[in-house]
Amino acid sequence: MKLKPLLASLCLSVPLMMTSMSTVAVEKITLKLAHNLDQEHVVHKAMDQMAKEIQEESGGKMRVRIYPNGQMGGPRETIEMMQNGALDMTKGSASEMEPFASAFSVFSLPYLFKDDAHFKRVLYGPVGQELMKQTDSKGFVAIAAYVAGTRSFYAKKPINSPADMKGMKIRVVSTPTTNKIIELLGASPAPIPFGEVYTALQQGVIDGAENNEPSYFQTRHVEVAKFYTEDQHTSVPDYLVIASKVWNGMSDEQRAIITKAARNSEVYQQKLWDEEVTNSRNKAQEMGATFITVDKTPFREALKPLYDDFRKDASVAEWMTKIEGEANK
Ligand code: GCU
Repeated sequence: MKLKPLLASLCLSVPLMMTSMSTVAVEKITLKLAHNLDQEHVVHKAMDQMAKEIQEESGGKMRVRIYPNGQMGGPRETIEMMQNGALDMTKGSASEMEPFASAFSVFSLPYLFKDDAHFKRVLYGPVGQELMKQTDSKGFVAIAAYVAGTRSFYAKKPINSPADMKGMKIRVVSTPTTNKIIELLGASPAPIPFGEVYTALQQGVIDGAENNEPSYFQTRHVEVAKFYTEDQHTSVPDYLVIASKVWNGMSDEQRAIITKAARNSEVYQQKLWDEEVTNSRNKAQEMGATFITVDKTPFREALKPLYDDFRKDASVAEWMTKIEGEANK
């Protein structure tokens, strides 16, 4: 008797039945959350804490099962799976949200934030709240924003100024803005999924990439690209999102439990982040990484044309102005 496949299909169909109910509030629910980060990453830790809080606060009725490490694919795939009802929640960086809601492109604008305080004021203040609403019409709702420090270039050879990047192939989370950043610096952008960057560096398909320190270290890219240039060109946050169909199908009480746990996970993640940057830096250095302090001026100058592009497009210019307006509050 083929009991196993039958049981497996029953197990699969129960959460699907529950998540596809759009009007009736469900009692018991298991939410599937997939993302592409390592389990040691503080964004994973924050979402894990949220999952525990949701389970506790609901008396075990609500559960969040997390699938880390890109098991279900990269953000592009997981966001689409969520839109199609095959997944309940996922995490995407602002760049990865950009194809779904253009407002998020504003985070790819280099040197937009004066400092960390400015960035957090935007992310967790009224501008950030308004930005988070931009996906509502796309079939998913943003419920938490996580800081992700600054992104810098790293490569097999030292980059001391844009002149050193001439002719290099650099991996980016490919968007029109990130591609243009690389081109303005004289290099070529390569759209490689996060999980494939290590091999691409190892095999020489690309010469470098760009990311924050925790992702540089946890992916072990440090083994194959030893020079990390602290040019800090962008601050691109991560977002936790949930399918609108699932969200709208819940009771007010269930939504309140999730909202509170998501808020708490933001606070927890911010607390862990700075420590994690220092830790990743130290560990990367132990593994042979060289951190290069650079004059940011030539990078800033080379990337200025992006501001003119943004100013020409009314829909994003508005976000740029709003963010700049938060600089000196
Ligand atoms: C960071 C970010 C991820 C993103 C990744 C990437 O690690 O936190 O959300 O997917 O960069 O460069 O692909």
